[in-house]
Amino acid sequence: MKKRVLSGMRPTGRLHIGHYFGALKNWVDMQDEYDCYYMSADWHALTTDYADTSDLKQNSFEMIADWLVSGISPEKSVIFKQSQIYQHSELFLILSMITPLGWLYRCPTYKEQIREIENKDLNNYGFLGYPILQAADILIYKAHFVPVGEDQLAHLELSREITRRFNNFYGNILIEPQAKLTKTAKVPGIDGRKMSKSYGNSIFLGEEEKDLKNKVWQMFTDPQKIKKDDPGHPEGCVVFAFYEIFNKDVKDKCEKCKSGALSCVECKKEVFECLAVFSKDMAQKRKEILADKSYLEKIIKTGNEKAQDTADKTLTEIKQSLKL
Ligand code: TRP
Repeated sequence: MKKRVLSGMRPTGRLHIGHYFGALKNWVDMQDEYDCYYMSADWHALTTDYADTSDLKQNSFEMIADWLVSGISPEKSVIFKQSQIYQHSELFLILSMITPLGWLYRCPTYKEQIREIENKDLNNYGFLGYPILQAADILIYKAHFVPVGEDQLAHLELSREITRRFNNFYGNILIEPQAKLTKTAKVPGIDGRKMSKSYGNSIFLGEEEKDLKNKVWQMFTDPQKIKKDDPGHPEGCVVFAFYEIFNKDVKDKCEKCKSGALSCVECKKEVFECLAVFSKDMAQKRKEILADKSYLEKIIKTGNEKAQDTADKTLTEIKQSLKL
C-alpha cells in the first residue's frame, strides 16, 4: 500500500513560477510514489477574505487548471475542493473541542498576521482556528506526509500536537502527519521583491512568449553594472537568480559576469530562452484546459467524490471512538 500525501493551497487564481518551484513541482514529483490528495483550500481563503467572495470560485478553477498545466494528473491524484467535503468541517468541530486556545494564540503565523494585516478585521474565531481546520484537512485522510514550504511548519507541528491529544483521549485512530519540506528555490519577482501577484512582479505559468520577453526585459539587474563590460555582482541580481533556477552549473556564468565578460543583455537573452522553453507547453495546455470548462469541472467532481469516500471512512471511525 502506498503511503498517503495531502496538501492544499488557498485559491488565489492564476499561479506563478514561484508557486511552481516553491511547492507544485514537489507535488508533481510525489504522484508516483504516494497516494496523493491535493485540494483547493477555499474555506481557508475565507478566514481572511470573507468580506468579498466574488472571485473565490473562479480562483479555485484557475488554480486547479494551473495544477494540471504543471503536471498534476487526475489519473494519479485526487484533486478536490475543500468546501465540498463536509467531513472536514465536522472533524474541525470535534478538534476545536480538544485544542487549547493557548496553542492557537501562540502560533507564529497567527501573531504575525494579526500584527501585519491592517486592512482586515481578523478578530474572528475562524481566523484563530485556521490551524485546526488545516489539521482536520490532513487528519481526515490519515495522510502520512504533507509537502509544504517552511512557512507552514508551525501549522504542521500543531496538527501533530492535536493528533497526539486526540489519540490520547480516544484511542490510536489518527495518524501523526509529517511535513515533507520543499527546498524552496527562492524565485524573486522581476523587481527583486518576493514574487507575489499583489506586487505585480510575477511571471505566470504558461505565460505567452511576448509577455515573457517584456518581463525579462524589465527585470532588475545589478545596479552597479552600468556599462556592459563593468564587472557584475551575480548574487542579488534578479536575472542571475532566474538563470540559477534553470541551470545546474552556473560557475562559468558567474565568473564571466564578475569579470565583465558577460553583458546583462546577453544574460537576459539566455534567461528568456530558458523561460520560453519552460513555458511553451504549459501555455498550450493552459489554453486547451480553459477552453473546455466542463473537462475541469468533471475532474473536480470526480475528485470530490473520491475525497468524500475516504474522508467518510475516517469520520465514521472517529464518531465511533468518541461514542457519538
Ligand atoms: N495553509 C496552507 C497555505 O496557506 C494551505 C492549506 C490548507 C494546507 N489546508 C492544508 C496545506 C492542509 C497543507 C495541508 O499554504
